[in-house]
Amino acid sequence: MPAVRESERVLGVVYTPPEVARAMVERALGPLVRGKSAAEILALRVCDPAIGEGVFLVEVVRVLAEHLHAAWQAAGNQRAIAEARRAVVPCIAGVDIDTHAVVAARGVLGDADLRVANALALDWSAAWPAVFARGGFDAIVGNPPYIRQEQLADKAALRGYASYDGVADLYVYFVELAHRIARPGGRYCLITPNKWLTAAYGRGLRELLAARGSVEGIVDLARTAVFADADAFPSIVWGTVGVVGAPAIRATRSEADVSVADALDEAGLPHPRERWQGDPWHIDVPADRALIDRLEARWPSLGSVIGRPSRGVVTGFNRAFVIDRATRDALLAAEPTAAPLIRPFVKGRDVRPWLPAQVERWILLIDRGTSLEPLPAIRAHLEGFRAALEPRPATWDAATRWSGRKPGAYRWYELQDPVGELAASRAPRLLYQDIQTGPACCLDDTGLVPDTTVWILPGGERYLLAVLNSALYGWYARRRFAPALNGAVRPKFEYLRALPIATPPDATRAAIAQLVDQRLALEGARRRGEAGTDAVTRELDAAIDDAVLDSYELSAAERARVIAG
Ligand SMILES: C[S@@+](CC[C@H](N)C(=O)[O-])C[C@H]1O[C@@H](n2cnc3c(N)ncnc32)[C@H](O)[C@@H]1O
Repeated sequence: MPAVRESERVLGVVYTPPEVARAMVERALGPLVRGKSAAEILALRVCDPAIGEGVFLVEVVRVLAEHLHAAWQAAGNQRAIAEARRAVVPCIAGVDIDTHAVVAARGVLGDADLRVANALALDWSAAWPAVFARGGFDAIVGNPPYIRQEQLADKAALRGYASYDGVADLYVYFVELAHRIARPGGRYCLITPNKWLTAAYGRGLRELLAARGSVEGIVDLARTAVFADADAFPSIVWGTVGVVGAPAIRATRSEADVSVADALDEAGLPHPRERWQGDPWHIDVPADRALIDRLEARWPSLGSVIGRPSRGVVTGFNRAFVIDRATRDALLAAEPTAAPLIRPFVKGRDVRPWLPAQVERWILLIDRGTSLEPLPAIRAHLEGFRAALEPRPATWDAATRWSGRKPGAYRWYELQDPVGELAASRAPRLLYQDIQTGPACCLDDTGLVPDTTVWILPGGERYLLAVLNSALYGWYARRRFAPALNGAVRPKFEYLRALPIATPPDATRAAIAQLVDQRLALEGARRRGEAGTDAVTRELDAAIDDAVLDSYELSAAERARVIAG
């Protein structure tokens, strides 16, 4: 597995495997080359606006040459395939911002028309006047750069894009660019992260694509390992510019063991075009879609029931603020009055269903405005890390390395970000992880302080705890939340807020709460190693899951769907 160079990360470079590029090029060019004459094929102009080392254009040359060769043969012309390959080189055009990439691409593509430029700021019609005299390129293919907006140096050029969003990733603009530089009737096929389908920052792009009606198909490849090196969750989108396609868009969520070529060839499920506007484009099988629609219409959303969760604590330098038992004991022995500031500290991995794991880790909870004057032992402990704790002065020269923490209005011995009320609270709360491999929500009423990999919901509502640990939640999460590595999901509030929360009658709610209390007690017993708890646990888990499904008023068929995962 080749390592990704730092310069490549900065430019958003993750090169595409040739077999993926080939399948995509065939998807883009198929209708433009099948059954066409040699002259028609030679008139085509195909562009990759971020060529990298030229993988896509190599495949374009291959596909065009094969069809040209076939057209020659059909016309009784015996010229060789190598000659066809040379003949189609003028059909390709490419751009990359990186000179080295263009030099490397020239190495494999010879005399092709490849240019060094910022594709998003380029005056394309001035650069390719003959192509634009005919309305633009016949096809656009590629794997545009993925660069988080925080790292973008020059955002000015992006504001002219209809899909502009202050936090959108750079690839979003390349999808719009394809629509700008393809001729009416021209085709595109691009591989990008799948986030634009559902993220808030993708709204502008979704609206643009909906308005143009250009999308023919989408394959979400989040579960397929396309790139060896990157934890990208890719998707491929293709279509025809300037032509409103069939009433439905074909969309597929490909499984791990399916090749990209097979995923592109799959018929996919028809998604009614009018359904996909600015709101997230979820790729569901129809039965799942119908069930989620029904639940969302029937029950209020989590966002409306309980509001926003809070995040745990950001110290800015854990080595100073997070202490072990020996340090805690020493500090408490020196100054017993520090006890309220020394609190057990849990991370995402400590969050388990029902109850958190026992931790041997404490945080010095020194929020803004805390005075350490009466606590010299704690101050002395932190003093040992002082250089690493100082906030960077606003006037610091960005080019010079700063050995402390980020700039901010905090003092060197305070936690970096203000501690939220919920994070500091000792009242009952629900905790869940920011990356989940399965439902895992726990109750804390002991005053644990969570770190930044944990989200906190106020109140210790047993019914909500049951829902967030249920099969129904797991089923919904896999269909609606952002994917993470190895099949995990990220329950960002952006997605979690829509989770339907049933509102069963009080008696049902109370009965479920009672089961949950039994489960909490049982979990305590299990953790203490008490014998004979396994079978009871299984029974109780099944009873709670059942009661939750009942509370959502699922039909037998819907239940079976949810339980099957
Ligand atoms: C993800 S790589 C993909 C390269 C190639 N399409 C492939 O699949 O092998 C993206 C490329 O975009 C280039 N790039 C980044 N920003 C660009 C810009 N504004 N205009 C043109 N190219 C850019 C990078 O230099 C990099 O070569």
